[in-house]
Amino acid sequence: MRTQVGIVGAGPAGLFLALLLNREGISAVNIDSRSRPDIESTIRAGVLEHWVTELMHELGVGERMLRDGHFHDGITLQWNGERHHVDITELTGGKRVTVYPQHEVLKDLIAARLAQGGEIVFSVGDTKINGADTDTPSISFRRDGTGELETLHCDYVVGADGFHGPGRQAIPRALRTEYQKVYPFGWLGVLVNAPLCWHELIYANQKDGFALLSTRSPDVQRMYVQCDPKDDIAEWSDARIWDELHARLDTGDGWTLTEGEIFQKNIVPLRSFVCEPMQYGRLFIAGDAAHIVPPTGAKGMNLAVADVLVLSRAFIAKYKRNSQLGLDTYSATCLRRIWKGERFSWYMTTMLHRNNTESDFEQRIHFADLDLVRTNISQARSLAENYVGLPFEQFAA
Ligand code: PHB
Repeated sequence: MRTQVGIVGAGPAGLFLALLLNREGISAVNIDSRSRPDIESTIRAGVLEHWVTELMHELGVGERMLRDGHFHDGITLQWNGERHHVDITELTGGKRVTVYPQHEVLKDLIAARLAQGGEIVFSVGDTKINGADTDTPSISFRRDGTGELETLHCDYVVGADGFHGPGRQAIPRALRTEYQKVYPFGWLGVLVNAPLCWHELIYANQKDGFALLSTRSPDVQRMYVQCDPKDDIAEWSDARIWDELHARLDTGDGWTLTEGEIFQKNIVPLRSFVCEPMQYGRLFIAGDAAHIVPPTGAKGMNLAVADVLVLSRAFIAKYKRNSQLGLDTYSATCLRRIWKGERFSWYMTTMLHRNNTESDFEQRIHFADLDLVRTNISQARSLAENYVGLPFEQFAA
């Protein structure tokens, strides 16, 4: 098999890239170790920056999002039992964020890619990236995990295969630097059959810890409470989860959280991670393969899409104008945006969680940060601009 761009991964980064390249007549094949039903049902976060929704419309995959997504013109921050509305639309000159779950985005991308005749090989095993530092890179894999060893010959290989995939590992250890911060807390997330009970997301910092109220549909709500990442999910009975959610979202003014059946629970640890550089020879890595953010800034999928937008422009410049510049500057261009996403996610995370490894001094500083957002328009605007998605810099390509 042969293609121009071989993509390991059929998540947001890999699929957006294939669609962006197809628009310019550049061929791509995605392979993924997961099955299609797995990819289409794994629950992840779901906040899309303004420009990502525009890109979805441009690519012809925005229809369901327009119908089923929730468009939010602000977020609510809560501390000391009081709520403060950050008016994102007002502060950013008309932009808004869209709450539309990642697995719904993936369903739309997969359907569009298959409809245009694109190839996605699901459920592969033994994936290996070969010859990244040569002019003839390839990806080898087995269909259904156990089939014959097949080789996909490519001009370029993209590792859009998540944190645990082979993409990043194919960059020699001595040539990459990894930056990491592990937070001493995690999120317990629940999906609940209940009606919407607030018109936007609430990020709350209360004395028992952080809580987030989000949504999935008019009848299904997504809620999180800060927990110990080592907690056993069995220690979190439904009653305990509701107690914590009520306590952490309480405002003392009569508002109440509507309870419902909890039909899914999981615990995720929080960490920040960046790998530099994101290129080795003809291999480029994108999305979670290269960087992880804690979910508090709602940046994960957005940073992945930003990477492949840059990468698609670089491939287009190479194939259409034989310009190498975009490919040579891919890593540096992406990392400038990524580190700003890392900074914002770290800021939101440290400001909103209770961290008993921090001193009281640091805790007070986080309250000063929150109060600045409440009282200072520049701080509020900075938060809003980062949350809705920073503008793209001009690309060298
Ligand atoms: C979610 O709805 O899952 C969600 C929303 C906002 C975040 C993180 C997760 O910052």
